[in-house]
Amino acid sequence: MSSYLLTAENLSKVYPGPKGGEPLTVFDGVNFGVNKGEFVCVIGHSGCGKSTILNILAGLDDATTGAVIMDGKEVAGPSLDRGVVFQNYSLLPWISVFKNISFAVKSRWPKWSKDEVYEHTMKYIEMVGLKGVEHRKPSQLSGGMRQRVSIARAFAIQPKLLLLDEPFGALDALTRGMIQEELIKVWEKTNQTVIMITHDVDEAILLSDRIFLMTNGPHASIAESVMIDIPRHRDRTEIIHHDHYYPIRNHVVDFLVKRSKELNDTGIEQQGQEQAFHYPPEVNPATGQVTEVKIDTDPSQVDDTRIANLR
Ligand SMILES: Nc1ncnc2c1ncn2[C@@H]1O[C@H](COP(=O)(O)OP(=O)(O)O)[C@@H](O)[C@H]1O
Ligand SMILES: [Mg+2]
Repeated sequence: MSSYLLTAENLSKVYPGPKGGEPLTVFDGVNFGVNKGEFVCVIGHSGCGKSTILNILAGLDDATTGAVIMDGKEVAGPSLDRGVVFQNYSLLPWISVFKNISFAVKSRWPKWSKDEVYEHTMKYIEMVGLKGVEHRKPSQLSGGMRQRVSIARAFAIQPKLLLLDEPFGALDALTRGMIQEELIKVWEKTNQTVIMITHDVDEAILLSDRIFLMTNGPHASIAESVMIDIPRHRDRTEIIHHDHYYPIRNHVVDFLVKRSKELNDTGIEQQGQEQAFHYPPEVNPATGQVTEVKIDTDPSQVDDTRIANLR
């Protein structure tokens, strides 16, 4: 069995076409593995299916084909093992900031005393700089503050896998930098595995062990896994002076500007041919090294029988 904490095997998402029109294949042939404790960012143009993939990993949406396997079990439905921060906050509007978080904490640790729940909740409220506004309702907060509540809630339940969908998009540069640093600290202290979507190349380099580059849709897929071999602890102001920073940055930007579309055009020509199942090659832009990664399970075997055997 694979040594990855989580694998995505042959994922695709197809929406039926409007009134008998052509169905839309948003992405297909999406395969990847994520190690325990790894921090992975996903970058790709709007509409290529990033949020959909994240929702499938969270168990909140179903793939048309394929499966997500975590800890040897197929992901089926949401779980407290997987914490999610959505693009649009998703807070309960009728309860306070404090309760939005303590509610999640209580469901994670049902045996905790009131004091334990209180302390734990406040710790995360402080972490995201919201002490003093914990009794306000989400509607009484700015967009950036709401996003911080949502981040605090996801961290507070200490999930094995943290799924973040452009979590810092709505934040001003200063707050964003501060929370990025907090995120690195929490991630370094805990043994959490993080998959995060971002459109910010510098943020992805600062945070990631690897960056997954997605081609444009339709028929999007993950073209490469870019290795970020810059040593940690990384500091926002110092990282740009590392020899590998600009080779990595240029490689990712070049992908977004040019190759994400070119690769997708090639992909469309190949439709109908036999799909190749492989993990995205691991690319180190600083050394030029490209490593093919063999898949250690056969995705064509991802069916109910195999899943049943995994359980
Ligand atoms: N219910 C739906 N029916 C048809 N197409 C959909 C539906 N939901 C999402 N899509 C399409 O799926 C694609 C991927 O969406 P999404 O995962 O949100 O992309 P991203 O997060 O990369 O911007 C988009 O092109 C969107 O139009
Ligand atoms: Mg999205």
